[in-house]
Amino acid sequence: MTDDLSRILAPDLIDDTDVVVEGTLRPRTLDEYIGQREVKANLSVLLAAARGREEAADHVLLYGPPGLGKTTLATIIARELGVNVRYTSGPAVERAGDLAAILTALDERDVLFIDEIHRLNRAVEEILYPAMEDYALDVMIGKGPSARSLRLSLKPFTVVGATTRAGRISSPLRDRFGATYRLDFYEEDDLAAIVDRSARILDVSIDEAAARAIARRGRGTPRIVNRLLKRTRDHAQVHGNGRVDEATATAAMRQMEIDDEGLDSTDRKLLAAIVQKFASGPVGVQALAAVLAEEVETIEDVYEPFLLRLGFLDRTPQGRIATEAARVHLAGLGYEIPPPRRSEPAMPGFWDLPADVTPDVATGPAAPTSDEPGA
Ligand code: ADE
Repeated sequence: MTDDLSRILAPDLIDDTDVVVEGTLRPRTLDEYIGQREVKANLSVLLAAARGREEAADHVLLYGPPGLGKTTLATIIARELGVNVRYTSGPAVERAGDLAAILTALDERDVLFIDEIHRLNRAVEEILYPAMEDYALDVMIGKGPSARSLRLSLKPFTVVGATTRAGRISSPLRDRFGATYRLDFYEEDDLAAIVDRSARILDVSIDEAAARAIARRGRGTPRIVNRLLKRTRDHAQVHGNGRVDEATATAAMRQMEIDDEGLDSTDRKLLAAIVQKFASGPVGVQALAAVLAEEVETIEDVYEPFLLRLGFLDRTPQGRIATEAARVHLAGLGYEIPPPRRSEPAMPGFWDLPADVTPDVATGPAAPTSDEPGA
């Protein structure tokens, strides 16, 4: 599956090989970790303080788009505290008893990483509240009128929760985290430094321009630049002399159908659907998901965040809108661009064509009709 073109830019892990290679590229200490400076600075104080007090660190909630290093940070947190880390996820913990078994097996000050923590079910969450707050496990003994609750002590531990959706976490659960950090897309300079570091680990010879070319198309995501680096290395090995220069990098990415903004074919399909099928929007995410045969959650969590950040997409109460920048980008790639249905704010753009352009193209935004949202 790793070579499936449509998944090259997927920020999630694809298969076991991915997990293993990612493992070797992952930074193991905060010092090795590139980017997310504010998170690192805050975290290093939190960890140093916990170490100094010889206590379990406060519970930490990490949120942000996939592939930005939440699992890596959880591993680093445990390593910096000198403890073990146990990995699980919201959907994997089905019953209260599953969580009780995990919690009772933790050692003093261990880290429990819960990925997709917003997907924990209610019964499991309720076990987690006293566990996080008082290191206590409340178990029910018996059934019916004679049932009673027994409180067992747990060893102090730290939950590191990760989510792509901070807004989906119930407020009682959110309140139990002592620190919440938002991971943001990485700057191009940081991604170039990550490509450089990974190339050294993988023993790939790469020049600075090539590292930048990969960083620029990496959607602000370390997991994606690392994957692009590996595919570019393959390209250099098969079609060149093994050295990765800018020409090899851009040729490899062209072959992977990744454009200069780092969009893959699904991103372009999504934008083109809004532009061509829905007159640039607004369109509801369900309609988009149906046209693209994708899950709503995948569109919202995987594709939209980077398109929003690029300024190619807007979310409005009426639905998604492809922006002027998106239309210009697609037009540059040869897509047919029908006029947007809505009227744009008074900004010069693609549709403000010069007077000498033939009038049948330069009609500009169509007048709103009565059945349009906001008309
Ligand atoms: N590899 C993946 N993510 C990284 C990061 N943030 N810093 C260094 N190397 C990485």
